[in-house]
Amino acid sequence: MTDKRIAVLTGAGVSAESGLGTYRDNGGLWDSYDPMEVASIEGWYRNRGKVLDFYNMERRKLKDAKPNRAHLLIASLENDYTVDVITQNVDNLHERAGSTHVVHLHGEVTKVRPENTCNDEDGFSERSVFDVGYDEVKLGDKAPNGVQLRPHIVFFGEAVPKLEQAIDLVARADIMLIVGTSLSVYPAAGLYRYARAGVPIYLIDPKEVNTFDKRIHQIRKVATEGMEEFIALLKD
Ligand code: APR
Repeated sequence: MTDKRIAVLTGAGVSAESGLGTYRDNGGLWDSYDPMEVASIEGWYRNRGKVLDFYNMERRKLKDAKPNRAHLLIASLENDYTVDVITQNVDNLHERAGSTHVVHLHGEVTKVRPENTCNDEDGFSERSVFDVGYDEVKLGDKAPNGVQLRPHIVFFGEAVPKLEQAIDLVARADIMLIVGTSLSVYPAAGLYRYARAGVPIYLIDPKEVNTFDKRIHQIRKVATEGMEEFIALLKD
């Protein structure tokens, strides 16, 4: 066990081999659904039922999905390193694979909260978050405070409450690994820039991801194969 820290930023691509879709690949989720309708704060206030149905569908898919070898290999890094997983994913596959420190930048699909809490004023406190597992949440389902429940997801148009925590973890990392993200959505996409000078940055994605950052070494493979190569590189 070294005292070295690895920060792992993941996106939908790490869960692709578990059968969960990505967002922007051909046939991705945003080809079938308008994110501004089902994943934005405006969409929520315009049609709460539509948003609840979208995340009920996502919860049903997750119930039948299992962590894949990439999730398991990321979790296995903890045998030799201190590992901070910073995921854009709202699924629970990193935790189910055994990763013990996972920061969900964009929320968690298995959790809900009253629609009038966790805002800037109350510092996005987690005290009012409820775990619903894979159950459905419908219009009219209220929290104990009598307020409609909403997905505990960071909608487009909302702040990313765990951003500072994520920046701190990247700034402390000795190695940075990025797996399965198009780096399209900020602020998550800019996180790697907080890596200290000289920290090696690896990116696993079968498609070329143009970051124009010379520090990034891309492993052009799917996550399961790319993780095998990354772990071999660590041993060199
Ligand atoms: N292994 C590794 N990477 C893969 C695989 C795979 N098997 N399949 C696809 N990918 C890559 C794609 O090439 C792409 O670069 O995963 C990336 C997925 O990109 P997106 O679909 O844009 O997903 P992501 O980057 O996670 O999106 C970020 O956007 O809509 C918001 O909140 C949502 O968290 C999401 C954020």
